[in-house]
Amino acid sequence: MIVSTNELFKHAYGKYAIGAYNINNLEQTMGLFRGNMDSKAPFIIQISKGARSYTDKRMLEAMIRTADQIFPDAIFAVHLDHGDEEAAMDCINSGFYSSVMIDASMKPYEDNIATTQRVVKAAHASKITVEAELGQLGGVEEHISVSEDQVHLTEPDQAEDFVKRSGCDSLACAIGTSHGAYKFSGAQGVHFEIIEAIQKKMPGFPLVMHGSSSVPKDEVDRINAAGGKLKGAKGVDATQFLKAAKLGVTKINIDTDGRLVWCRVHREYFKEHPENFDLRPPGKVFMAEFAKYIVEKNRYLGSAGQLDAVRKFIGK
Ligand code: 13P
Repeated sequence: MIVSTNELFKHAYGKYAIGAYNINNLEQTMGLFRGNMDSKAPFIIQISKGARSYTDKRMLEAMIRTADQIFPDAIFAVHLDHGDEEAAMDCINSGFYSSVMIDASMKPYEDNIATTQRVVKAAHASKITVEAELGQLGGVEEHISVSEDQVHLTEPDQAEDFVKRSGCDSLACAIGTSHGAYKFSGAQGVHFEIIEAIQKKMPGFPLVMHGSSSVPKDEVDRINAAGGKLKGAKGVDATQFLKAAKLGVTKINIDTDGRLVWCRVHREYFKEHPENFDLRPPGKVFMAEFAKYIVEKNRYLGSAGQLDAVRKFIGK
């Protein structure tokens, strides 16, 4: 059942975080639903601009609607990840999305506010909620690439002003994480002091942590042993998810780790079966492995086992 992102946030706030997982294809869709059903967790499906154009934006919608029928007990929201104004408006008008992200964080402050305000106005008229971003995360996220010298962390005073003036419903904060497989190189980590300061200023307001993949060393090593050439780097330690959740981080975005699972499964499968060319055998392994990965993430997020309580909470 597709529900509002806001309802999921209200139930989770301060207790656990909802996993927001990016998907692009059929196998990820099946693995995502299976994993969340296996761990009885509510979840958010994230669709990026790139995912919408990978085949056709209607294809993902159709797969999600069908998965909803195959897994009638699932409770989830559908979210546009890193939208520009055009994509956000398109998703609002489609009537399919629970929430959209407008990422105008690369614009000057006042432009970011003005752009976010326009999206909020249209979204709220359709009962859709809006995630906005303030500050700049590093790394590469499809069409967005931010080098280390462009990164700037969210300032708590500015965050309060931004939320008040833009009218957004949740805020993606730059707190030291970055997108992609190449994250922390040394002793860097999540800036909990920033999350804490923002929560003090806006208690009860949902915060979003982007760039939350862990980039497990084991996964990178297996990929490289099967012919890959990933440099790899330390990501976010998943044992920190709950600490962030208690400070108001209600949505945690994870994409890269799922891609690593895909890469590992397919590299290993074809290395072990060089005579094979069929897509279904590795596809089956991938769906099972993706589901396993979702189960593990949900355990760290604290969303595992919350499904019945969420169902009661939203009264459906
Ligand atoms: P990762 O690249 O760390 O998975 O982050 C994904 C993300 O934040 C999507 O918005």
